[in-house]
Amino acid sequence: MESSRLLYLFLSVLIGLVAFTTAQPEFFLHSCYNTRNYTSNSVYQSNLNILLSSLSSNINITYGFYSLSFGQDPDRAYAIALCRGDVLLDDCRSCVNDSARRILQDCPNQKEAIGWYDNCMIRYSNKSIFGVMEDWPRLALLNVNNVTSIDQFNQVLRTLMDRLRSEASSGSSLRKFATGEAPGPDFLTIYALAQCTPDLSGQQCNDCLDQAAGYIPGCCNGKIGGRVVTPSCNLRYEISRFYNSTVPLPSPPPQPTPPLFSPPPKGMRTHAIVVSQLIFLSF
Ligand SMILES: *[C@@H]1O[C@H](CO)[C@@H](O)[C@H](O)[C@H]1NC(C)=O
Ligand SMILES: *[C@@H]1O[C@H](CO)[C@@H](O)[C@H](O)[C@H]1NC(C)=O
Ligand SMILES: *[C@@H]1O[C@H](CO)[C@@H](O)[C@H](O)[C@H]1NC(C)=O
Ligand SMILES: *[C@@H]1O[C@H](CO)[C@@H](O)[C@H](O)[C@H]1NC(C)=O
Ligand SMILES: *[C@@H]1O[C@H](CO)[C@@H](O)[C@H](O)[C@H]1NC(C)=O
Ligand SMILES: *[C@@H]1O[C@H](CO)[C@@H](O)[C@H](O)[C@H]1NC(C)=O
Repeated sequence: MESSRLLYLFLSVLIGLVAFTTAQPEFFLHSCYNTRNYTSNSVYQSNLNILLSSLSSNINITYGFYSLSFGQDPDRAYAIALCRGDVLLDDCRSCVNDSARRILQDCPNQKEAIGWYDNCMIRYSNKSIFGVMEDWPRLALLNVNNVTSIDQFNQVLRTLMDRLRSEASSGSSLRKFATGEAPGPDFLTIYALAQCTPDLSGQQCNDCLDQAAGYIPGCCNGKIGGRVVTPSCNLRYEISRFYNSTVPLPSPPPQPTPPLFSPPPKGMRTHAIVVSQLIFLSF
């Protein structure tokens, strides 16, 4: 596809502190929040580095959603990474690996940050972010090309988005993702995708996608493509097929997860023990 046709505009109106860093095709969008800084060589920094560099090497995670924490309060770091539901495992791991390094570069010393590649999202914080619906920061991207029959296009898009929202919301705790297509006006086909982090409840996912879809008229009305991304969910539509058929879910990991946030034994801070503090928050 022509890069000019795929030129996406960054919409600062909706957003806040999101930066548009590199050119396509693989651009990385991020928000550093810029609210709280950690000091270099702090315990938090060390926890964060260990946590982020461990994400993609966790072989137990085979379904594209990572939620882990590392360290002890008050310096514990929490991270979530989510791959698009149609991305193959190897591509997912490499995207998570890249984004983990990239977010540290782009948001130096930030206690909290989030970044998006096409294939994955990464987010970290010094507070627990598992199972919490967040709709800020949010970002919208649009394809500058115009639709001719706007009303009909919007109607088809809305119906399609409603369907994908309910399909994604009814997904499991491993994946909440849906793609689909519908015939639009002027012989166009509309292709769309909706995804939540699967730690959300069905209701939270539904609410998140509902809100995200509510931004489409503001950002992307009359445009042939658009995306809205938030920490907890994202959606996208185009007039060409931009996704693969969904990769089947592997069977869930054999071993149930340890209790959430179980504190590590007191006084044990050797490297070996540190590794066991990586708490796997998905199931
Ligand atoms: C955090 O650090 C950044 C970059 O060093 C600086 O621009 C920003 O003002 C700092 N924010 C706070 C809240 O200290
Ligand atoms: C992550 O990237 C680093 C540096 O490019 C590489 O050495 C490492 O093998 C990668 N890890 C995974 C799991 O892809
Ligand atoms: C993966 O799962 C196995 C079996 O439950 C466990 O022993 C191992 O520590 C896990 N690895 C990671 C990196 O969590
Ligand atoms: C779709 O699948 C093809 C072939 O497996 C692969 O080359 C391509 O990168 C995939 N696209 C995405 C978005 O995963
Ligand atoms: C996160 O860091 C901020 C700023 O240092 C602090 O005020 C807040 O209490 C921390 N949150 C947690 C859960 O530790
Ligand atoms: C789309 O329509 C707007 C408003 O009618 C116009 O300003 C803009 O140039 C059009 N964009 C393209 C790519 O044709």
